Amino acid sequence: MKRVRSLPIIILTILSSLFSLAAYADESGPIVIRFSHVSNDGSPKGKGALLLQKLVKERLGDKVVIEVHGNSELFNDTDGLEALRRNEIQLMAPSLSKFRAYTDELQIFDLPFLFDDLAAVDKFQSRPKGRQLLLSMVKQGIVGLAYWHNGMKQLSANKPLTTPEEAAGLNFRIQNSDVLKAQFAAIKANSVVLPYSAMSKALADGQVQGAENPWANFDEQNLQSVQPYLTETNHGVLDYMLVTNSEFWYDIPFEIRSQLEGIIAEVTYQVNQTAAGETLRHRENIANSGKTEIISLSDEQRAAWRQSMQPVWQEFSDQIGKRLIRSAQAAN
Ligand code: LMR
Repeated sequence: MKRVRSLPIIILTILSSLFSLAAYADESGPIVIRFSHVSNDGSPKGKGALLLQKLVKERLGDKVVIEVHGNSELFNDTDGLEALRRNEIQLMAPSLSKFRAYTDELQIFDLPFLFDDLAAVDKFQSRPKGRQLLLSMVKQGIVGLAYWHNGMKQLSANKPLTTPEEAAGLNFRIQNSDVLKAQFAAIKANSVVLPYSAMSKALADGQVQGAENPWANFDEQNLQSVQPYLTETNHGVLDYMLVTNSEFWYDIPFEIRSQLEGIIAEVTYQVNQTAAGETLRHRENIANSGKTEIISLSDEQRAAWRQSMQPVWQEFSDQIGKRLIRSAQAAN
């Protein structure tokens, strides 16, 4: 009985969703997706955004248009995420350190010396625990669509840093992350939270004397001109989560959304496949610039940095979750 009575409702629902699909794609014109980010076109994220725009134009041109706004032209990451929640923009790829206001768990990616290399990061992100984290902000209206790699972070400063003691008292520019703040406090250095777009000037003006960046960002921001020393610490990772507004995303008709998700998977593959090569290319640019000396650490020297930053794990293990940390370690 119950089933028979609800049948017309089911038919109505199917008809109305078919109607809304047609209306969305045809009558209201293409769906416009504004992709806002803080990087240059030549960076891993900038290239990913442009490839996404190109493939969507080629395959879904009459139904979807991606507008790309790079270089913090619209928003920095913190303001951008709030704009995304208000659906003023629909795509972003902030670094994983930028989600502090929305979830505790993503802080895992900031723990110093957690991942041995980018391959381990990739493995963790691909496993069920890593995939689950893409949905860790759904209650806040943010859904993760993919992880995009940039690379492992290196420390730079206005003086050579071989031991953690040499960093004491320096001001380092950091992203807005409690873990990163604790990381620098552990080596008795200070941290100053600044948007990406303000980093280069703050280093030039002397507001901060050091920073932590993957090779690509150091080179793309031309930090060679303001940081004479870079220590190859590989102490952390800077990767991205491609995110969208969940209500907007699930309102896109199923067929179009599936095609978009297919294209995103292709772009993600491309961005992540080329990350290691891009890192090498940027490292070479920096080495060849003749402006920044690259300092390599012996195993013992690197172990000393690791040991001095290790207390940070203890401090954040309850917030992040011990099991999650163990599963990340298992990816090494
Ligand atoms: C940063 O603020 O350092 C990074 O988030 C920049 C980036 O690559 O997005």
